[in-house]
Amino acid sequence: MQEAAKSKNSRIVLALDFPFEAPENRNKVLVKAQSVLKAVHSHICAVKINHHLVLPLGTFDGVQQLVEQIRGQGLLAIMDAKVNDIGATNQTIAQYYFAAGFDALIANPFIGWEEGLKPLFEVSHKLNRGMILLCYMSHKGASEGYGQTIIDSETGKKTLQYISFAKKALKYGADGIVVGATYPQKITEIKHVVGGKVPIYSPGIGTQGGAAETAVKAGAEYLIVGREITLAVDPAKAASQLLDSINGV
Ligand code: XMP
Repeated sequence: MQEAAKSKNSRIVLALDFPFEAPENRNKVLVKAQSVLKAVHSHICAVKINHHLVLPLGTFDGVQQLVEQIRGQGLLAIMDAKVNDIGATNQTIAQYYFAAGFDALIANPFIGWEEGLKPLFEVSHKLNRGMILLCYMSHKGASEGYGQTIIDSETGKKTLQYISFAKKALKYGADGIVVGATYPQKITEIKHVVGGKVPIYSPGIGTQGGAAETAVKAGAEYLIVGREITLAVDPAKAASQLLDSINGV
């Protein structure tokens, strides 16, 4: 990611998301995705794909085609599957996404390490791909899970769930963590824990109310931006303006 961000001079990860289309019109989604990608590729360093594309286009059909386009433009491809199952299932999910060419996968740390994340990290790192963990999500209800006060199972002391997840991301050797741009103070708190050793990816810019400049000042390394760019009348202009707003911050 560091190399891609440097060569592209951007820390924007495009969330290539589009609204629902009736299944018989699903090819429209592929056309839109290819067109937005073509328009904005020089303003971004990576692309994050979600179920918005995997469900209508299929992993080894439209999505793999897009991943090839993404990687051909010198960008990285991240799969936002928020993997959340038992280890054996997680491994299979990871193997399919990595076989389709993805560079990294997002997972949910609530599943825990043994027989959850561990097999996932093993298969990912063996293939030299990245694992990114959620830490504090960008939506309002995030407080109900990621914001809970918990008793740490190792220390027996009270702590916040997201602080515990940040410490665990360091311990597990995660390649990134996701913290919502809608909570800049939490980005700063989490940054103190990970100390720059695990990069912070921050979604929730624009449509969800987060501000790019504030998230970067708070400590985010990469910004994940979807609808603010994909649904803009002029996606290239939206991406370039966003980039201008954080250059030099
Ligand atoms: P928008 O359109 O709001 O889309 O810019 C944001 C994209 O990022 C995803 N998202 C998250 N992904 N942790 C994640 O891993 C989060 O906290 C989070 N919040 C939003 C969302 O699904 C969409 O693809």
